[in-house]
Amino acid sequence: MKVSLAGTRPSDAALDALAVPVSAGRPLSGAALELDRKLGGLLSEMLAGAEFRGELFEVLSMPTQNSIQARRLILYGVGPLADLDGQRLRAAHQQLVRESRRLRYRRMGLLCTDPLDTDSLKAVVEGCILGTFERRSRQTAAEVVPAALDELVLLGFGQGREREVEAACENGDATNYARVLQNAPPNELTPFTLAQEATRIAERHHLELEILGPEELRNGGYNLLLGVAAGSAQPPRLITLRHRAGPRNVVPTTATPVLGLVGKGITFDSGGISLKHPEYMSLMKADMAGAAAVLASIDVIASRKLPLDVLAVIAATENMPGPSAQRPGDVVVSAAGKTVEVVNTDAEGRLVLGDALTHALRKGATHLLDLATLTGAATIAIGHAATAAVSNDDAFWSLVSRAALAAGDRVWRLPLLPDYKGLLASKIADLRNSEYGEAGSILGGMFIGEFAAGRPWAHLDIAASSWNDNDELKTLHPGPSGAGTRICIELAELMAGAVS
Ligand code: BES
Ligand code: MN
Ligand code: ZN
Repeated sequence: MKVSLAGTRPSDAALDALAVPVSAGRPLSGAALELDRKLGGLLSEMLAGAEFRGELFEVLSMPTQNSIQARRLILYGVGPLADLDGQRLRAAHQQLVRESRRLRYRRMGLLCTDPLDTDSLKAVVEGCILGTFERRSRQTAAEVVPAALDELVLLGFGQGREREVEAACENGDATNYARVLQNAPPNELTPFTLAQEATRIAERHHLELEILGPEELRNGGYNLLLGVAAGSAQPPRLITLRHRAGPRNVVPTTATPVLGLVGKGITFDSGGISLKHPEYMSLMKADMAGAAAVLASIDVIASRKLPLDVLAVIAATENMPGPSAQRPGDVVVSAAGKTVEVVNTDAEGRLVLGDALTHALRKGATHLLDLATLTGAATIAIGHAATAAVSNDDAFWSLVSRAALAAGDRVWRLPLLPDYKGLLASKIADLRNSEYGEAGSILGGMFIGEFAAGRPWAHLDIAASSWNDNDELKTLHPGPSGAGTRICIELAELMAGAVS
């Protein structure tokens, strides 16, 4: 989809459709009111009746009968202003583009008018790009191939903002790429093919790339990762990409930050010997959503040549109950030297992430952000509308939280309560990986935090936010969301801005 900025008068723009935002409970004003007059009061009539209320995800298309140049006028809702944030704004535009594709429009204009202002540009563009995403259909019938919107014309957002538009398109495309990876079937997206994806990205930007297989992992002592992989016929991969800040005026010092983005890359989580119930298993192809976000974001970070060292570390493996699978009760020595009792083989995410954090630190990371579909408890605690998070460092958290705000991708920090430390303890090892009795998302995070070696660290549990499978939750798009992708990009941007 081509995205352009135009200064054309809205009524003069030759378009298949012109979209006008409406906030529930607010009257038309400015450019929308002008259009309403040209259309003989059609818009205000729709708003006065029950046809259109301006609620989030409402989209109503009307013929313009030659009263303006555009063939159709679309009213689309963003919901009440009091509820409007970056995430809902993006969701509204995602829905607008999905609907205009369904109606087979090819060239759509979008008017900047209340409740939007020129500051909304980024959210509008990112949201519209999200609307171009389609879960890859493997159905063979021709009519299921969805239509594409060829061009989006932004009206009234000002001129000379092409770079902002381009960056927002990149952010949206990266999110969609993460969604594509999430959606890939687990017989196709394996640790091996995930490493191939990483290789493609590394080659595109000439990044340093390291892919460790079973033998190297044994040499490095990455037994937590190896233990999870033991039951699978697919060998694990520990994937590391490094983007370098490039030549700087200043010599790198110990104070120069290196951001480590660490992703859980379980390409299929059966639960292992602690086998999941079938009901909870089919979605487990997407247990690599953290890895997807990390890969998609380093692609953008590298293409922008951000002046910040960024490491992307992905622990890729299946969690399967094969004959050599690890058993509940096994004790494993992690790469960091801590011993872990594997009480439940289905709590595998924290195991592989423990070793992945150690690897990121060995590679020189000074700040750690891990992204993981870690706990079902995240859905219980917060649900799909935000990512559950924990952090050991207020200053770093404030950066992550600012990044999430800029990304329009909600995070909600849960407390790391010292009272719960004892729950992590095992009778025969330093840590146990499960059966804490309460606070599942917090304790999952606390387990991973044990491997952060006191460095500033934040953990994003995207188990709920990365995939909406609650069809009654109508204002969140169903399926994969690419959660965390834009947070990683924005965090790197913020940290790069502070360094350069
Ligand atoms: N991948 C799952 C968590 C998950 C659940 C992700 C639902 C997405 C949707 C994770 O590996 C897991 O199985 N967690 C267990 C941990 C428990 C055994 C401590 C869980 O949440 O039940
Ligand atoms: Mn699991
Ligand atoms: Zn898992």
